[in-house]
Amino acid sequence: MTRWYYGWQMVLVSFVVMIFLTNPVTSQPQTNLLIRSCSTNNATDIQKFIGNLNETFRDVRTKLLNNNTYFTTSNQTRNSEPVYVLAQCRNYMSTGDCVSCFDFADRSIRFCAAANGARVVLDGCFLRYESSSFFNQTTLPGNVGLCGNRTSSRQTIFEMAVDGLLSNLTVAAPKINGFYAAVTSQAVGTNTSTAYAIAQCAETITTDGCKNCLQVAYANIKSCATDVTDGRGVDSGCFMRYSASAFFANNKTTDITPFLRDGSLHGVTELQGPKDYSFNDLKKATKGFQEDNKLGEGGFGDVYKGIVKDGNTVAVKRLALCSDIAKANFESEVRIISNVHHRNLIRLLGCCNKGPELLLVLEYMANGCLEKFLYGEKRGTLNWRQRCDIILGTARGLAYLHEQYHVTIIHRDIKPSNILLDNDFQPKIADFGLARLLPDGQTHISTRVAGTLGYTAPEYAIHGQLSEKVDTYSFGIVVLEIVSGRRCTEVPAEFQGEQCLLEHAWYLYESRMHLKLVDATLDPSDYKEEDVKKILEIALMCTQSPVSVRPTMSEVVMLLSDRSRVQNLPTRQNVSFNELSNADATITELTGR
Ligand SMILES: *[C@@H]1O[C@H](CO)[C@@H](O)[C@H](O)[C@H]1NC(C)=O
Ligand SMILES: *[C@@H]1O[C@H](CO)[C@@H](O)[C@H](O)[C@H]1NC(C)=O
Ligand SMILES: *[C@@H]1O[C@H](CO)[C@@H](O)[C@H](O)[C@H]1NC(C)=O
Ligand SMILES: *[C@@H]1O[C@H](CO)[C@@H](O)[C@H](O)[C@H]1NC(C)=O
Ligand SMILES: *[C@@H]1O[C@H](CO)[C@@H](O)[C@H](O)[C@H]1NC(C)=O
Ligand SMILES: *[C@@H]1O[C@H](CO)[C@@H](O)[C@H](O)[C@H]1NC(C)=O
Ligand SMILES: *[C@@H]1O[C@H](CO)[C@@H](O)[C@H](O)[C@H]1NC(C)=O
Ligand SMILES: *[C@@H]1O[C@H](CO)[C@@H](O)[C@H](O)[C@H]1NC(C)=O
Ligand SMILES: *[C@@H]1O[C@H](CO)[C@@H](O)[C@H](O)[C@H]1NC(C)=O
Ligand SMILES: *[C@@H]1O[C@H](CO)[C@@H](O)[C@H](O)[C@H]1NC(C)=O
Repeated sequence: MTRWYYGWQMVLVSFVVMIFLTNPVTSQPQTNLLIRSCSTNNATDIQKFIGNLNETFRDVRTKLLNNNTYFTTSNQTRNSEPVYVLAQCRNYMSTGDCVSCFDFADRSIRFCAAANGARVVLDGCFLRYESSSFFNQTTLPGNVGLCGNRTSSRQTIFEMAVDGLLSNLTVAAPKINGFYAAVTSQAVGTNTSTAYAIAQCAETITTDGCKNCLQVAYANIKSCATDVTDGRGVDSGCFMRYSASAFFANNKTTDITPFLRDGSLHGVTELQGPKDYSFNDLKKATKGFQEDNKLGEGGFGDVYKGIVKDGNTVAVKRLALCSDIAKANFESEVRIISNVHHRNLIRLLGCCNKGPELLLVLEYMANGCLEKFLYGEKRGTLNWRQRCDIILGTARGLAYLHEQYHVTIIHRDIKPSNILLDNDFQPKIADFGLARLLPDGQTHISTRVAGTLGYTAPEYAIHGQLSEKVDTYSFGIVVLEIVSGRRCTEVPAEFQGEQCLLEHAWYLYESRMHLKLVDATLDPSDYKEEDVKKILEIALMCTQSPVSVRPTMSEVVMLLSDRSRVQNLPTRQNVSFNELSNADATITELTGR
């Protein structure tokens, strides 16, 4: 998804210009140029080529102007320089604005000179030509999400409304004649604001093609930070956009409710299932699950790096759970996980349930896991800003799993080895949803607690009481590790009386020595004392008992994003660290860890 534009056509593309302006307006040609790309192949007979190009463009313009249409194609194949052209305006435009946008696109695309393939994508319209027909193209590599500026206000409420809008559009637009829909949504909350969104496919593709294309566009938009106020998904066969500002008039919306009827909430049942891989393909991709390809060993099985048939690098997780129950739950659980799209959650690309084993095919993160950066081989390489981003991103990913996805997913095993880092050091949580493969009874201490020593909330470790707050607790512990660069089981030599990092953090907080917690590898000029204090307060709040005083993850996101101070300061409970250690000892016995 991050590759630019090769594959849109068989020819190589010489350059791509992406200009991104956030300037939504209604009733204008909307000529913000989003993408312009030209192929490297030039026409051999320039005279003939330009003649054909001009003729098809004239034809297209006439149709847009006179036929009250927003989509049209034309071709001229009379000589050695065939030209196929497709033009499309967003249906909320007036005819005049549509033609103005087309004229602007025509002028912009001439920049590609003799290149016999080119495209320009604008907010208001789309123009493309090639030397062969491309009208049936849907989603191709080069599809991209374009993310606008970020905001610090209103984001949580807004992003929830946007998510619902876009998933509804993904379901509805392919079923609507003309493959186009425009919708708005009133965000709920104290300060109401409206979100605007459209989805549109080329009219020459199929319903399934439109659906596939919009699903990719939707996923691309969702990989933008969740607080951007304006996002676009651009692909060969479709376009999707949302904004917090009105880019079409309120009377231009489409009633999509009739097209959502048979789907359940958010139309998730309509969404794609994961891709099926054969066991042999995955075996080949990982060179027979060779030790050299092993990326790590997780609670649910080993993970291998693999290169699949389409050339993409993936992570293949070979699940160690092979019980009948896991096999039986696999299909439905995997379908749920595969429809989770969030910037801070690892994407499930496919799976294999045919053959002897259960395997998951996941996004590959070249930077590996957070653990390595905190106290492994990359120790000391993350600066303060990066650590804060990792904390916020992880909180957002969890808030999504708990409160924004249509099924509540409790992770149960949040720890630095389950938080992966992308190329920009943004966190992506791995292994969510897998605990659901365990049979219900197996979550209690008497059999097995999903979770890892030191990160597990006491009520879960001791009594098997499971709630979202179990993840809040583990998150708090991970934050302490991120700030201190220490393992949760470790305290500095001079504090040997303390049993763990959490107890040490309480001590430093209560004696106002919070700066002592900060990783010594960090440059003291890199962080502010008040920021350290605030993050420590939030981390401690997350680890409080009883469960009811711990914040929800969306409250944590709000606290982290808000510049003001934390209002309800954390208070230490009489958490018995002894009791905890005893529980941990029991877990160790039972699970053999
Ligand atoms: C195509 O033409 C442009 C100028 O019109 C030129 O700069 C470019 O090198 C040409 N490319 C090829 C592959 O001939
Ligand atoms: C083709 O159209 C361009 C731009 O409209 C114009 O400058 C050029 O003269 C036209 N060429 C031919 C051969 O019609
Ligand atoms: C466009 O309109 C013209 C007349 O205004 C008509 O002759 C032509 O068939 C129409 N084309 C399409 C594609 O509908
Ligand atoms: C090319 O144009 C002709 C005549 O306008 C039309 O019949 C044909 O279907 C077009 N081809 C494609 C691939 O659209
Ligand atoms: C599109 O059409 C071309 C030729 O007309 C065909 O080879 C190709 O498979 C089609 N692609 C899709 C996605 O239908
Ligand atoms: C978005 O950010 C860019 C660069 O930081 C800035 O120039 C532009 O004014 C911003 N746009 C809006 C609408 O805030
Ligand atoms: C999406 O569609 C569902 C089902 O019709 C509806 O309940 C929900 O409010 C819609 N979401 C938004 C944000 O419009
Ligand atoms: C709501 O908007 C008002 C004025 O725009 C602002 O003062 C207030 O802080 C906002 N409240 C929230 C919860 O965003
Ligand atoms: C739709 O709204 C626009 C501006 O918001 C207005 O100019 C136009 O007359 C309205 N159209 C109809 C059919 O009500
Ligand atoms: C916690 O411990 C303190 C003294 O260590 C005691 O005074 C207090 O009552 C205890 N609180 C609870 C809730 O057990």
